[in-house]
Amino acid sequence: MKLLFLGPPGAGKGTQAAGVSAHLKVPHISTGDMFRSAIKNATPVGLEAKKYLDAGELVPDSVVIDMVRERLSMPDCANGYLLDGFPRTVEQAIALDEIDAPDIVVDIEVPDERLLSRLTGRRVCGKCQGTFHISQLKDEHACPLCGGALSQRNDDKPETISTRLRAYHEQTEPLIGYYSGLGKLRRVEVNRLRTVDGDSRPEEVFKGILATLE
Ligand code: AP5
Ligand code: MG
Repeated sequence: MKLLFLGPPGAGKGTQAAGVSAHLKVPHISTGDMFRSAIKNATPVGLEAKKYLDAGELVPDSVVIDMVRERLSMPDCANGYLLDGFPRTVEQAIALDEIDAPDIVVDIEVPDERLLSRLTGRRVCGKCQGTFHISQLKDEHACPLCGGALSQRNDDKPETISTRLRAYHEQTEPLIGYYSGLGKLRRVEVNRLRTVDGDSRPEEVFKGILATLE
């Protein structure tokens, strides 16, 4: 199955993608994770992308599209993929339809007022990459799964979060119309969009996603 997750920053795309990709046995491909790894390893893509991630703005389409095209050509994508954080602009969506079009697009809906506390409270493990919220943690500094050090993402500061939310509403939200075929950006006859309520417990959201895939 070729699947992608749409949704604002903090909707739970990464949290849900971990379980859903294991369930479907397809690779979880997060463009945000790819950029953070490229920045850590100081690759040419990382050096180019860093200023955009730090500012909460989108990396230019050409850079992201080339990176995803290369990733989707790898053998582990032969039976499908779960894309998280791509596409984020209409130009990226058109490119993906040309590279390897998704079958289903899951839009995880969460109201804006919930997102700030989810993002400012997020902690990520540097060792196993697990993602948590401080409300779940006994110790804010140690990963409950592997004991690795937990840290906060660079772009999870309130001022950067508001730039990311603006980028989402202006550049990414129009994709809901693109994939449903109902908006101004109508391109396909088939409605590939499924909407899932992301404003409930993670286990409930997981069940909602699997139900919509059946
Ligand atoms: P990216 O890494 O994709 O960030 P994002 O879209 O802003 O989304 P997040 O990862 O912040 O949120 P999420 O939905 O994954 O939530 P999570 O599961 O972690 O992109 C980062 C940057 O990279 C961009 O700003 C841009 O610069 C660049 N970039 C990436 N892709 C790009 C592209 N295609 N084009 C251009 N630029 C690109 O959960 C968040 C928190 O909520 C956690 O603490 C979690 O524990 C908690 N939580 C999760 N689910 C629930 C729930 N059901 N109830 C309560 N809490 C929950
Ligand atoms: Mg994420």
